[in-house]
Amino acid sequence: MKYDFDHEVPRFGTYSMKWDDDDFFKVITPNLRLDRETIRLNLADMDFRCAPPIARAMHRVADFENFGYTTANSAPEYTKSIIDWYRRRHQVEVRKEWIVHSNGAIDGVEQAIRAFSEPGDGVIICRPIYRNFTSVTDKTGRHVVNCQMINRGDGDYEMDWNAVEEACQQPENKAFILCSPQNPVGRVWTEEELKKIAGICRRGNVVLVSDEIHSDIIRRGVVHLPVIKAVEDTSNIILVSGANKTFNLMGLHCAYSIIPDENLRKQYQKNYEPPMPTPFAIAGMTAAYNECEDWLDQLNDYLDDTMADAVDQIHQKLPLAKAYLPQGSYVLWIDFSGYGYSTEILQELIYQRANVALQKGSSHDPDEGGQFMRMCVTCSKGKIREAIERIAAAFEEYEAGNRK
Ligand SMILES: Cc1ncc(COP(=O)(O)O)c(C=O)c1O
Repeated sequence: MKYDFDHEVPRFGTYSMKWDDDDFFKVITPNLRLDRETIRLNLADMDFRCAPPIARAMHRVADFENFGYTTANSAPEYTKSIIDWYRRRHQVEVRKEWIVHSNGAIDGVEQAIRAFSEPGDGVIICRPIYRNFTSVTDKTGRHVVNCQMINRGDGDYEMDWNAVEEACQQPENKAFILCSPQNPVGRVWTEEELKKIAGICRRGNVVLVSDEIHSDIIRRGVVHLPVIKAVEDTSNIILVSGANKTFNLMGLHCAYSIIPDENLRKQYQKNYEPPMPTPFAIAGMTAAYNECEDWLDQLNDYLDDTMADAVDQIHQKLPLAKAYLPQGSYVLWIDFSGYGYSTEILQELIYQRANVALQKGSSHDPDEGGQFMRMCVTCSKGKIREAIERIAAAFEEYEAGNRK
């Protein structure tokens, strides 16, 4: 392998949310231990060294020695890199004018909610789903309309089509936020499913916002379909994505929305002054999309191997837990209900005794996620193995104590 993904970057002291801002996590999960020994797998943020052309681009920009106002328009190569990326990686033509820079995928989602609904309106989501879809809906004064996905029990989640159809028929529900691939369950939606969702939304006058930020992290042999490719009539569709997750550039804010329909785009931008990308974002995303495809392909190989290994290790060392290889993303959605522990005990064993930070399932699924944990496979294979071993040891110690 050309790139060494077993080697992690030391991240303490790098202005990192994950490593330097424990208070941020303690608000949501006060019982996390979070010290120097914690294995931190609770945030979708990779610990690998970035692709070398990105670091070179950062040095080049630092050498400008001037960081005045910056615009996306001032760098045609930036927009072109997005267009070329979609053409090469996803075989779909994106036009320049469809692209609106954003501060992050979640910024794009928030903007869509604000543009296409009023306070008090409903925003449809299908849980388990990325927790910030809920927080952003609450923050904007809209309310969540949850169409709980059907858990087939073997890692295969399906839409509850009747619930989706019914929710989209309610006039007060104005937007449907799709997670494609779905974080945390890892589903990659098929063409048929995407067409069906888009059709149901269109018939109900609901704007479909497809968050595809995880779309480039995908298992070998699985194909992600951008919604604008799967669906012919894009008059109600906003695709939200970026290089943020793909190349771990969240600190640079490398994200955008793609909106083919002119009227929709105008309304999206009506009360929104799209954020100015920083020169680092422009250079970082352009380098990532133009020069780092080999890094991404190797990353995907590494993640395929590490995730398959993690699932295997969980089956061996935590036989009563259920975990399945997701089709997309680098997150594992682990069901610990087989152990029969209360949510409090489960968290105590994993967070305090094992000292592993996972994200509690109830964040993504308040009704049915209490026995689940989300593990972000965002570091070396060795570290993931150690985390699973530590959890297994904590469970064994607890069981042994109960037997006494
Ligand atoms: C589905 C989804 N959307 C958005 C985000 C946030 O992305 P960004 O940093 O680009 O706002 C995440 C982060 O984990 C995510 O999983």
